[in-house]
Amino acid sequence: MRNQLLDIQPIAGALGAEIGGVNLADELGDGVIAEIRQALLDHGVIFFRDQVLDVDRHKAFARRFGDIFIHPNFRGTQADPEVVNVVRNPGDARIVGEKWHHDTTMVAEPPMGAVFYAIEVPPYGGDTMFASQYLAYETLSPGLQALLEGLRVKHTDRALAGPQAGVSKTRSTAVREDADWRETITYHPAVITHPETGRKALFVNHSHCVAFEDMTEEESRPLLDYLLEHGHRPEFTCRFRYTPGSVAFWDNRCVKHIAVNDAGPFRRVARRIQIQGTRPQ
Ligand code: SIN
Repeated sequence: MRNQLLDIQPIAGALGAEIGGVNLADELGDGVIAEIRQALLDHGVIFFRDQVLDVDRHKAFARRFGDIFIHPNFRGTQADPEVVNVVRNPGDARIVGEKWHHDTTMVAEPPMGAVFYAIEVPPYGGDTMFASQYLAYETLSPGLQALLEGLRVKHTDRALAGPQAGVSKTRSTAVREDADWRETITYHPAVITHPETGRKALFVNHSHCVAFEDMTEEESRPLLDYLLEHGHRPEFTCRFRYTPGSVAFWDNRCVKHIAVNDAGPFRRVARRIQIQGTRPQ
């Protein structure tokens, strides 16, 4: 598929496209940026290969799509608050993003997306999988869709950071675990309308969601579990195999993702910059 300026090749039926013909380190014109944004909206997640991005060029590209989002749980654990270095060393039992999730949904205005740059890639393993939450919503029965319209879901970061979670002892990318850390909780609708495409998407994820509003966690579990599992049926997904210099840019409003924890004896290093989003509605 050739747009005016970009070569766009879908990689799966559900979502995901590889884009050629662009060097992200260049000062890109507004026309190219508009086409990249449209490709993100059309495909949910887009990929670029063989890019050379230092931190400044990486930030400059991300800023063409919005302000940089500062992740509250990496404050003080990363040298630059605008950047998360996602490092997996041999021996790490756990990794960043190891469950199906949208990023950082415990906050009121989660990131609209992330630009993820692969620096060191294992010879095999370490892929990321993505799942379309448009399809997850559209394939529910009309009855369940109607039920979900009125429901809001509790999103928390209690399993992801803080002294009680004990995450940092299991992996190289540390999070805040100091005594001053406080759990962040926000209620978001179970189904949201994408602010740019106008399409409805399921908005629940394994990492953050624990209950429906005004219900106990125990009461919520059966329906929540159903939705969480439904959200990554194989036919809703794509999988990306990185090479050094690959970039994945995902739309956090309509796509969930998971870092596949199968890099075994190998190191994997990537740099992630998130882009500020708006309140899901
Ligand atoms: C993330 O969830 O942001 C990390 C994805 C990955 O490491 O593949």
